[in-house]
Amino acid sequence: MKLHILAVVPELLESFLKHSIPGRAVAQGKVELKIIALRNHGTGNYKSIDDYPYGGGGGMVLACGPLSECLDELMEETNYDEIIYLSPDGEQLQQKEVNRLSTQQNILLVCGHYKGIDQRIRDSYITKEISIGDYVLSGGELAAAVLADAIIRILPGAIGDEMSALSDSHQDALLAPPVYTRPEVWRGKEVPSILLSGNDKAIAEWRLEQSIERTKKLRPDLLKPEEE
Ligand code: ADE
Repeated sequence: MKLHILAVVPELLESFLKHSIPGRAVAQGKVELKIIALRNHGTGNYKSIDDYPYGGGGGMVLACGPLSECLDELMEETNYDEIIYLSPDGEQLQQKEVNRLSTQQNILLVCGHYKGIDQRIRDSYITKEISIGDYVLSGGELAAAVLADAIIRILPGAIGDEMSALSDSHQDALLAPPVYTRPEVWRGKEVPSILLSGNDKAIAEWRLEQSIERTKKLRPDLLKPEEE
């Protein structure tokens, strides 16, 4: 998969995506990650990329010129399945959409900054708008990092143990069951004995029960009516 990210502050993404699972997936060639600096397409001596909003009001707007020049150049080289604008106005990100995006060949993420991007760019280039939650960030970079991480970690082979991603919270609309590691007793608290039993079937049943209980308690909204 090609995952390209157009950013105003590329530094916010570079270090994050170099490490851990995304970093390894890139090193292993599971994903071709490219971070593009919008500033390189800026105009004038100061490489300006933004301008005042028509109609007044505070904040700056990312202008059409640098964005369209950069997007045209990228689109000439790559045929994107989706060009996604990260925005608090977008559809709220869910695991189901992450799963769908992970099956695409080429994705471009566009990060806004300041007051956002000129509406005409949204209308002309963007195929989808995604929000990572009902709050406003300073820019789209952290949201793009969240989305990129969520996509990359479920690409085949990105996680060592292939089964592990399938047991994540939200993968089957349930929260994940509790997990334990050594020591068997810590400050008097014991690991549930079923996990030491070696009985795979019983462990799987216990985990499912725990998942359902946890979801009922913490996120009852996730349960379909018949499971409540
Ligand atoms: N940009 C600013 N806030 C955002 C959010 N909540 N989700 C996605 N992109 C954003």
